[in-house]
Amino acid sequence: MKCQRDKFLLQGKVTYLNGAYMSPLLKKVEKAGIKGIIGKRKPYRIPPEDFFGESETLRRLYASLINVSDPSRIVIIPSVSYGMENAVKNLPKKKGTIIAAGGQFPSNVYPWRANSAYQINFIAPPISHNIGSLWNERILDAIDQDTAAVSLGQIHWVTGIKFDLQAIRKRTREVGAALIIDGTQSIGALPFDTEQIQPDAIITAGYKWLMGPYSLGLAYYGPIFDDGLPIENNWINRLGADDFSSLINYQDKFMPGALRYEVGEHSNFILVPMLIAAIKQLLQWRPEEIQQYCEELFVDAIEELGSLGYVIETQEARASHLFGINLPENIEMDRVKKALSVHKINISIRGNVLRISPNVYNDQKDVQRLLRALKEAII
Ligand SMILES: Cc1ncc(COP(=O)(O)O)c(C=O)c1O
Repeated sequence: MKCQRDKFLLQGKVTYLNGAYMSPLLKKVEKAGIKGIIGKRKPYRIPPEDFFGESETLRRLYASLINVSDPSRIVIIPSVSYGMENAVKNLPKKKGTIIAAGGQFPSNVYPWRANSAYQINFIAPPISHNIGSLWNERILDAIDQDTAAVSLGQIHWVTGIKFDLQAIRKRTREVGAALIIDGTQSIGALPFDTEQIQPDAIITAGYKWLMGPYSLGLAYYGPIFDDGLPIENNWINRLGADDFSSLINYQDKFMPGALRYEVGEHSNFILVPMLIAAIKQLLQWRPEEIQQYCEELFVDAIEELGSLGYVIETQEARASHLFGINLPENIEMDRVKKALSVHKINISIRGNVLRISPNVYNDQKDVQRLLRALKEAII
């Protein structure tokens, strides 16, 4: 794949290596949003079918991206915390331990903490080299008969370390625990195969690696959630809601399966077409190609940074679109921050880790600028 910067409206002077914060908008996505805004000038051109049709398209496209055979297992959500809450409230095991990765994103923590039937067991990463495989071993060792669910990302949101979801799935099956994945920091840029992993839920925000707008995400809910109670009581998830003439024949039954968990007003005529346009582009690029592009972009720079004393996890154990750089003791964070600012480089700093998250709009110029800044921070 070649650099795709011309499909975005990024400014030349800024090096943006922060897709994990949020993606810039593709020109196509911007256009779809503007069309959605303008569409409401003429509400008489928005028929009842449109309340369902575009959501269906979005389900189908996302199902294809993450290899789900039944698109009706996918619903639109406003945020990860919302999607998680539905899973927490409807977990088959009504009490027990939730295994989580140490320092995982709060949207996959607070919903569990708020439910006193569950205790979270955070599995901390080992303080050593070769963190990836040891961390996965620790997680597997922690799963036992008391485990109600393992709930974590496909990768860690700061260091990009990959979790061995297949091994975790196997172990959770042995003890009857659910597997809930937060796909926010990976899906779109790292292949995710639902049929292969068979998690019970996958909750993903749309504004990072799916390249969509803010406030719209997607969730997959597997069969264990089919008879649950959604966290809100909206009309549009009721059986027969598409018949607008009978809406006051109040209906207590929900749509079958996962569709009951979709957020009210999911037919967002601005945001849904934007996410559709974004996922269409991702399907053309393909996550494996995006991953490859990011890997090749940084392979030499990572070697050089390693020789300068910066610490980066081995290639196999981490993602290429999101990885952490740990500072050695002789390099001060303030100096790094200053150098990044001088060179107009935008990344995220989380604790003592520099989180670098490139995408297909980055090129070697961006990488060289980052290298220059990190070299200056040493001297
Ligand atoms: C791993 C992860 N999950 C979720 C989110 C966003 O959560 P929410 O949609 O609840 O704001 C983020 C944002 O940075 C994230 O990094």
